[in-house]
Formats: sequence, structure tokens, C-alpha cells
Amino acid sequence: MKNILLTGGSGFIGSHLVRLMVNKYPDYNIVNMDKLTYAGNPENIKDIENKSNYTFVQADIVDDTAIFELFKKYNFDAVIHLAAESHVDRSISNPKEFIMTNIVGTLNLLNAARDAWKDNMQDKVFYHISTDEVYGSLSDTGFFYEDTSYDPRSPYSASKASSDHIVRAYFHTYGLPIKISNCSNNYGSHQFPEKLIPLMIHNIKHNKPLPVYGEGLNIRDWLWVVDHARAIDTIFHNGEVGETYNIGGHNEWTNIDLVHLLCDTMDDRLGNEKGTARKLITFVKDRAGHDMRYAIDATKIKDELGWVPSVTFEEGLASTVDWYLENEQWLDNVTSGAYRSYYEGQYEKR
Ligand code: NAD
Ligand code: TYD
Repeated sequence: MKNILLTGGSGFIGSHLVRLMVNKYPDYNIVNMDKLTYAGNPENIKDIENKSNYTFVQADIVDDTAIFELFKKYNFDAVIHLAAESHVDRSISNPKEFIMTNIVGTLNLLNAARDAWKDNMQDKVFYHISTDEVYGSLSDTGFFYEDTSYDPRSPYSASKASSDHIVRAYFHTYGLPIKISNCSNNYGSHQFPEKLIPLMIHNIKHNKPLPVYGEGLNIRDWLWVVDHARAIDTIFHNGEVGETYNIGGHNEWTNIDLVHLLCDTMDDRLGNEKGTARKLITFVKDRAGHDMRYAIDATKIKDELGWVPSVTFEEGLASTVDWYLENEQWLDNVTSGAYRSYYEGQYEKR
């Protein structure tokens, strides 16, 4: 029996991980602690909410008293920490929220784990989920490796880089048994439609302009979210304490090529003439400090832990498009209210 605290389990990646862990490990008690910000949605994990090995607690990781009480109550053996403010554009308009949640919130969890495990750290794990964005921006060639120097450029990536450094500092200074992974861009079901892929699917469906930043030539390396959850499961169980693992799909796309692919897939699904959705593409003012290219080298996790992605991008993207089309209510629910005012303030014409 293991008691596991999983933070941010009602968000995009967290919900896929909660589903995987609750179904795969009936002997573990999984406690999902989430503040339920705009990005946290209980609908994302409706299918497992009544399972006997699952508990939900609504709390804010910035609230250190609440975190300490939670650790006292549940006697955790492990933490898998995903809770974060995660959207670069929001970090540009409101950096403080990112500093509080991503840095101070992570510090609070580390302090609570250190205190709870002070007499015996044997078999305990504090696993911090991070992003490839901490490594900065690549030009046309090269990859991010586990030992690439950090060079974050947005308030989001700077806050994640800071939290990674603090997690490592707790390993070296206090001997806290930590693991870290840095993953490339995820896509899949249940992603909040402020991020590129669900935003484009939503707008194509509603015949709205498709806002592409700059020339659309920035490159991202895309991985199916279920494969990220599988990688986290692998690292949690088999990764070495104190180690970092990069996770990625060797799947680089310029934004404009990806938007073209989505347009053609959507035309096909909606029965529209080919080329219909592409007419919606609108080039808008570039994101401030827009990182040019991300590309992960995932050799270490493949060679040492045997993890590789389970689907091709074509398969993963097709199933993602189908999910959004079959779950219109989910999209309609999350795009009502606050989403609309966010969206209206976000894009400026070039
Ligand atoms: P998300 O924004 O979809 O979900 C974040 C979750 O954290 C939400 O459920 C939210 O309610 C919760 N949360 C936010 N602030 C909180 C607080 N103060 N206290 C408690 N809960 C809080 O994010 P995501 O895309 O699922 O990302 C999860 C993690 O994975 C993040 O740490 C992110 O940095 C990392 N990551 C994301 C990607 C990606 O492509 N999305 C890639 C690599 C790494
Ligand atoms: P995003 O999904 O926000 O992820 P990240 O910034 O963390 O990589 O954006 C992916 C890429 O798509 C990024 O280069 C910015 C670009 N983008 C657009 O061109 N238009 C949009 O409306 C959004 C949200 C992103």
C-alpha cells in the first residue's frame, strides 16, 4: 500500500496521470490535490471519481498551512507534483501568479515532504514534473539534453526553471529523494483551449479566425499526453533518485504546418471541401520573446528505462480531433464565461 499525493490532477496532464494510476494500481491510495483554477476541471476525471483508491482535496499549494495539514492527515510515501500555472501567454500578462504557484507552491510542498519524512527518507519520492522550456530556445539545429544549461525566457519558463533548481537544491542540501522530468509540448484530450491545438480545433469548428503568431515558423516538439503519463509512471517506479529525464517524441512541427494539418483533418471530419478551414488562418502580432524552437533528445529515458512513445503523431492527432468533436459539451463548458474575456484581450492584429 502506497499513499501518493498527486498535485494538479484535475488539469490536462494531471487528469491523464490520475486515470492511469488509479486504474493501474488498485493498491495505491491516490490523493489528487488541486486548487481548481480555470484550468482545473472535475469533469476531466469524472470516470474515476468514485473509485475506492481515489480521493480529491481542493487546496492551494501556496497555502503552506493547508499543505502541512494534508501531509499530517495522509502520511504520504510519495509526491508527484504537476500543479502549476502553465500557459506562457498568461505568464506574460500576469507573471506574479506564476511566481507564487510555480515557485512558492513548489517550495511549500518540498518543505512539507522534508518535514514529514525527516526521520526516514527510505523509499520516499518527491517527483517534480517540468518542461523543456527551461532550456530556452534553439535555432535550426541541436537538441535539449538533460545537461543542457538552463536559459528560460518567459515568466512561465523562468518560474519552472526556478522550481527545478529548488527541487535539486533540496536533494543536495537535505537529501530529499527527488526525481525531475522535462517534457516537450503535450497534446490530447482535455487540454484547455488556450493552447494551440485545442484552440485551433475549437475555432475551426466555430468558423472563427485561427490566430497564428508571427510568421508561424516557430517549432515545437509534440507528444501525446497519454505517452507523457506513461513516461511519468515509468520514471516514478524505475527512475533513479536524484536524476533528470527528458521526455519527447522526436516530432517537430512548425506552427503553420501543424495548423495546416489540423485544418485538413477538420475539413475531412466536418465534410467540408478541402481548403475551407485554411481560409480562416490569420497571422497576428507575435508573442513577446517567442521561443523559436524546442526539441528534446529522449535517448536517456529510452536507453535506461525502455520508454518510447506508443503512437505516431498522425494517430494521436486523429484521436485528439475526434475526442474534441465527440465532446462538444466539454469544450462549450470551458469556453463560456471567463474564457471569452481572456480570448478577447489576447490577440492583436499585425
Ligand atoms: P494545466 O494548466 O492544464 O493544469 C494545471 C493544474 O494545476 C490545474 O488543475 C490547476 O487547477 C492546478 N493548479 C494551478 N495552480 C494551483 C495551485 N496554486 N494549487 C493547486 N493546484 C493548482 O497544466 P498541464 O498542461 O496539465 O501541466 C501540468 C504540469 O506539466 C505543469 O507543471 C507543467 O509545467 C508541466 N508540463 C506541461 C506541458 C504541456 O505541454 N502542457 C509540457 C511539459 C510539462
Ligand atoms: P502553446 O500551445 O501556447 O505552447 P508553448 O507556448 O508552451 O509552446 O503554443 C504552441 C506554439 O503555438 C507556440 O509557438 C505559440 C504558437 N501559438 C500561436 O501561433 N497561436 C496561438 O493562438 C497560440 C495559443 C499559440
